Amino acid sequence: MTNHSAYIAGLGFYVPDRVLTNRELEKMVETSDEWIRTRTGISERRIAEKGVGTSELASRAALAALKQAGVSPNDVDLIIAATTTPDMPLPSCACFIQQKIGAKNAAAFDLAAACAGFVYALVTAEQFIRAGVYKNILVIGADVISPYIDWTERSTCILFGDGAGAALLKPASGKSGILSSVLGSDGQYADLLTIPCGGSRRPATHGSVAENGHTLKMSGSEVFKLAVRGMSEAVIEALSRAKVKKSDVACFIPHQANQRIIDAVADRLELPAEKIFVNLQKYGNTSAASCAIALCEAVEQGKIKKGDKVVLATFGSGLVWGALVMEW
Ligand code: COA
Repeated sequence: MTNHSAYIAGLGFYVPDRVLTNRELEKMVETSDEWIRTRTGISERRIAEKGVGTSELASRAALAALKQAGVSPNDVDLIIAATTTPDMPLPSCACFIQQKIGAKNAAAFDLAAACAGFVYALVTAEQFIRAGVYKNILVIGADVISPYIDWTERSTCILFGDGAGAALLKPASGKSGILSSVLGSDGQYADLLTIPCGGSRRPATHGSVAENGHTLKMSGSEVFKLAVRGMSEAVIEALSRAKVKKSDVACFIPHQANQRIIDAVADRLELPAEKIFVNLQKYGNTSAASCAIALCEAVEQGKIKKGDKVVLATFGSGLVWGALVMEW
């Protein structure tokens, strides 16, 4: 039994080429670019081509993360795919990713924690590394959520986009790596954000299609309030477990759902705007990919340097939430 923490040795992300702008949405539903930007902060999002499944985006992100880490697909021990939009109900998205990247020696499974999936998957991977079971774990947050969006429903269709982000985790040798984490969920709010049909309770039928039961339904303002509370409290607890002061945080990567949620969380945490990484204007809410893509871009843009304390915080349908403190 070892007791190594885990660190991120490589990152990668992929988003589809197709950009869907607020102006285009103005032609689809009764909304305006101005309303969307002021109420959410989003200007555009990416949409996968019809027939492109989550594993396609995820594999591209995964290969980029492996390349950055200098790890061959053959040396991957485990693939954890955080997604709620797998290519199909069976087999797992992780197995399709394995097939696409040729990681033939890996175990593979999916993890369903909606938008909080990337943090849940990082924490899960960390346990295997701490226990000394695996050395190279590919953690991927990926969702192609666009087929589940009701493109006539203005309060949801403006929010989401497709994407994938990946991290290769290894045992940490020095100080760097995951310092602490907090995961939480509260199933009493399970009905606030759902895709009601297509599962075992209400499988696809002509009726389920006719009643539009395969698209995302959300109580936006309730989710908003719970997101602010869940993320803030998780970050405060994770910082306390890591014995890191708020003022020592160099970069905060929140789930990219709504600029106003991010502002409210930052306010509660007393974090100045320059320490908060935001890219939702370009991608909207990419669900499980959101924090992964943001972390990747923050590093690419030089916002995170060696030795920095970095905090991730996520929130999603379930309701679930998670926060993680790392030293880079
Ligand atoms: N364009 C114009 N008006 C819109 C609109 C749009 N795209 N979407 C909603 N509205 C309208 C509503 O119909 C409502 O009109 P009414 O007062 O005539 O009924 C009005 O705007 C206010 O609606 P409300 O829901 O109170 O707005 P809001 O400020 O709460 O913003 C969300 C709505 C969905 C943007 C916001 O609640 C939100 O982001 N919630 C969190 C969602 C989320 O992050 N989910 C994923 C979690 S992982």
